[in-house]
Amino acid sequence: MSEVICGEFPECVPRLRGDGFVLRAHGPGDLERIVEQCQDPLAQRFVPLPSPYTHSTAHDFLTGYVAGGWNRREHAEFAIADVSDTYLGSMSLKARDHDRYEIGYLLHPDARGRGLATAAARVALRWAFTELGAQVVLWRAVGGNEVSLRVAQKLGFECTSLLPGWFYTQGEYVDEVGGTLTRARFEAQWGL
Ligand SMILES: CC(C)(COP(=O)(O)OP(=O)(O)OC[C@H]1O[C@@H](n2cnc3c(N)ncnc32)[C@H](O)[C@@H]1OP(=O)(O)O)[C@@H](O)C(=O)NCCC(=O)NCCS
Repeated sequence: MSEVICGEFPECVPRLRGDGFVLRAHGPGDLERIVEQCQDPLAQRFVPLPSPYTHSTAHDFLTGYVAGGWNRREHAEFAIADVSDTYLGSMSLKARDHDRYEIGYLLHPDARGRGLATAAARVALRWAFTELGAQVVLWRAVGGNEVSLRVAQKLGFECTSLLPGWFYTQGEYVDEVGGTLTRARFEAQWGL
């Protein structure tokens, strides 16, 4: 990531435009909706989040995890916002190697069910494949997260891995499902 990201957070975060939304740097104005999103039972079940999730947790996420991830070039964490700049969710790309990344997504409950995760992930993946030099991107989820699986499949991920007892969430290990998407497969399906 280090070759293509210039400067410090938040200036280093590119603005990636989609149809009716933008991927941008997280800001303090997103905090309230991040708390609502991360207290949601589905988010708590399917994403390894702290519990309870408080305003202080969200503050640490913004100032520590997000800013530090960009500054250390370890992970690119985008906020998804609508045309009036309301926070809708987060999209992340974690560096696993110089050309290998892992994608993660989470939406505020009121932004789900209208194709946003798929559309926003497509924008993030195109950026990863064209700007970051990604060759393969990993997706993984708690077994039984059918919506996340559907999003990954629509994006073109080949979701063939099942790892019993491998995903740690809410204090226990549960089954993990996973898959990968190559640059060539993304290009064939969506273009670059
Ligand atoms: C997973 C999540 C990001 C998906 O966001 P979204 O914008 O609602 O997803 P999309 O609308 O792009 O796609 C959802 C797909 O799942 C399908 N779906 C919905 N409920 C489903 C179910 N119970 N079983 C199977 N598929 C389902 C939808 O029909 C849609 O597919 P389609 O376009 O072919 O009809 C969002 O639901 C979320 O934040 N969930 C909680 C956190 C989470 O699970 N994050 C992922 C961790 S890996």
